[in-house]
Amino acid sequence: MISEAAIWHDLECGSYDADLECWRELADQYSGPILDVGAGNGRVTLMLAELGHDVTALEVNRSLLATLVERSGSIGIGTICADARDFQLDRAFGLIIVPMLTIQLFGGAEGRARFFAAAAEQLSGGGCLALAIADLRDGEEGAGSGEQLEADVCTVGSSSYSTRATALRERDGQVGIERRREIVSPDGSTVVRAATDWIDLTTADQLEAEGAAAGLAIAPRRQIAATSEYVGSVVVCLNG
Ligand SMILES: C[S@@+](CC[C@H](N)C(=O)[O-])C[C@H]1O[C@@H](n2cnc3c(N)ncnc32)[C@H](O)[C@@H]1O
Repeated sequence: MISEAAIWHDLECGSYDADLECWRELADQYSGPILDVGAGNGRVTLMLAELGHDVTALEVNRSLLATLVERSGSIGIGTICADARDFQLDRAFGLIIVPMLTIQLFGGAEGRARFFAAAAEQLSGGGCLALAIADLRDGEEGAGSGEQLEADVCTVGSSSYSTRATALRERDGQVGIERRREIVSPDGSTVVRAATDWIDLTTADQLEAEGAAAGLAIAPRRQIAATSEYVGSVVVCLNG
């Protein structure tokens, strides 16, 4: 049975596809196994594995990883349930990807430094570590613009789930995406919860400096365009 965390994850992240071409291109450019960091329900892992790439999904949330494994069916994928700031694997990767602002969830510069150290150890010589970041304050079209977004809705079993971003809030070094989540049970009873995802503020320059401090070489950045629901992002690329 799908967990509630996986349902919210599907609703809040699952429909994003503006970045997929970027990950496909990088997977074609860099040979060798791929590590997808913060893989969630497998949005990117499964796309790359279906194209025939050898992908390992690293995810800290066990219930999201369980959904990813179930969805992988007969496609072979590797999985590791671990904190990206403290992991070690017995193989090297030609490409390590960190999609969808995941690097902005690691607890600031100290958490990122631990991640960069771990990732640099796992990256093969000439391989690429690629990290997507966004500035949610930049006023672009989409989720960062402060406009009211439509609710994302689905039905699981006989219950209906709906979630809507209601506001952006700023505090020291972070932007919070506030959401209103609602579950309507078959008997009509309704549970409403507030949830906030705190995203660290950082820049491409800062990530490149942090990657260089971990011994990685700065490679050209890529851009991912904004959509009606998501801000655009920059993909920082660092070579091993
Ligand atoms: C914004 S979601 C992106 C999910 C997926 N990569 C995608 O693009 O659809 C961020 C994911 O990173 C995971 N995550 C957050 N902090 C993590 C950590 N320290 N180590 C591993 N995974 C983490 C979350 O559980 C979540 O699944």
